[in-house]
Amino acid sequence: MERCWWKEAVIYQIYPRSFKDSNGDGIGDLKGITEKLDYLKELGVDAVWISPFFKSPNTDNGYDISDYRDIMDEFGTMEDFDEMQREMHRRGIRLIVDLVANHTSDEHPWFAESRRSRDNPYRDYYIWRDGKGENAPNNWQSRFSGSAWTYDGQTGQYYLHLYAEKQPDLNWENPAVRQEIYDVMRFWIEKGADGFRLDAASMFYKDKGLPDGALGRGSVGEEHYQNVPAIHAYYREMYDQVLSRYPELVTVGETSGVTVEEAKKYAGFSSHELNMVFQFEHARLEYVNGDKYNLRKVPLTQLKEVLSRWQRELNGTAWNSLYLTNHDQPRSVSHWGDEGRYRRESAKMLYTMLLTMQGTPYIYQGEEIGMTNIHLDSIEEYEDIQAKNGWRELVAEGGADPKKFMDVIHAMGRDNARTPMQWDDTEHAGFTAGTPWFTVNPNYKEINVKESLEDPNSVFQYIKELIRLRHESRVAVYGDFTEFAKENEALYIYNRSLEKENLLVVLNFTGGEQSFRLPERMRGKKSELYISNYENDGQMGDRTLRPFEAAVYRWRE
Ligand code: NOJ
Repeated sequence: MERCWWKEAVIYQIYPRSFKDSNGDGIGDLKGITEKLDYLKELGVDAVWISPFFKSPNTDNGYDISDYRDIMDEFGTMEDFDEMQREMHRRGIRLIVDLVANHTSDEHPWFAESRRSRDNPYRDYYIWRDGKGENAPNNWQSRFSGSAWTYDGQTGQYYLHLYAEKQPDLNWENPAVRQEIYDVMRFWIEKGADGFRLDAASMFYKDKGLPDGALGRGSVGEEHYQNVPAIHAYYREMYDQVLSRYPELVTVGETSGVTVEEAKKYAGFSSHELNMVFQFEHARLEYVNGDKYNLRKVPLTQLKEVLSRWQRELNGTAWNSLYLTNHDQPRSVSHWGDEGRYRRESAKMLYTMLLTMQGTPYIYQGEEIGMTNIHLDSIEEYEDIQAKNGWRELVAEGGADPKKFMDVIHAMGRDNARTPMQWDDTEHAGFTAGTPWFTVNPNYKEINVKESLEDPNSVFQYIKELIRLRHESRVAVYGDFTEFAKENEALYIYNRSLEKENLLVVLNFTGGEQSFRLPERMRGKKSELYISNYENDGQMGDRTLRPFEAAVYRWRE
């Protein structure tokens, strides 16, 4: 397999609004990021992906851009960006910019023009249609509740928005739109970007004729705009016109709904489109029939089936991006571990898994100290537009059970990951000298960076060691993946192998003791410890695993 920097890298995701406020306005900013670069260097990450920091009215916290070439007021200035970029590069940390190109803000000048008249030169930058009688042009639903269409009285037509009303979808069929986006990419490459994370990257192509969607699974209409085969022509063009000119650049597409087969098309080693994609299968296992407001408990065997399948199927043909959470997902320790008694053990166990799989690991801010979900009592205390719109549609207007709705928000809501970063045990967790834009998780007194740096047994120290080991270990990055005891509902066991080098990974996903039987072909082999979250002598063998124990052994064939 061809070696390259982004396969061997560990990437850290920053949600700037909640990372570090430098000027006391309660909102994180670019100077705040610059202040904390030594911290990231200490952790050992190679690159940072920063969620959008461009001009935005913040309907969706920056995922609604009104100027692609300027900095959001709350986050600072272009000088702050230049300084941050310089300081990152001085420390050998690369910068990945979030490219939000499926839609803009309705306050973007293109849209302001577009909505002015039917014959405006920018009209065709967006997707405008006549209604069907009194109704919207089709039955597609917005990801943020309600119809995906909004009627604009000025010109008597509807425009499409797969997200909020203030996030109109760009019309990628229009070559002028694609050229605009390529120019934006070139602009940020010139300014020092080393890569892009492409937002809503599976949604750019909308089926011709915009047919009605089938009812009953996921967001209505998604089969007509998500991973439609014709999208690949856009990516090949983007590659020809932009990406191929910058061979060191990295790209990762946020491809919701992607299957293994489609991932190989977007990110195959010879497909000349993107380098990697984020898949969502493991993150959405709870959803009953794709419905994010109807959750079930997921057996471990199903989580393992998804993760192992992606490991096996992409091996040798495409590259995985590995993540446990991001700014749209619950905290990993609350989701798959134990945020109570075994918080540390289970957080360490989960990151042992992430950093011993094939692919590029992404660590979301705060995960390295084992931050947990937030539990707020009422919907008014939340900020996320998805949660608020969901409440309005389902509870306020639809009569759904408020308690059940809040249970879903507590378990899966996006704000779980958006509480301010917990730097120390002083007021507001040291995030801001002012009033934080969103509630700080009250557990910041125990869970914070300061404590984590001082305690040799902290989650931080453990993840730092995992990163260090991964940088030294080619088998951890490139090795083949073989799973054992697939039907075991408590343990995840797999081996990584490269030539004669091996890593056996044993993970206990429960808060109880579990017995582990060493796979036959490893019996009698000598081993040493790679890492463990408990005391461990390093010799592989049958044994009892402690709650949420992770043990990784290095052995030779
Ligand atoms: C995916 C982003 O991760 C999410 O935060 C955002 O709301 C939507 N795309 C729309 O841009």
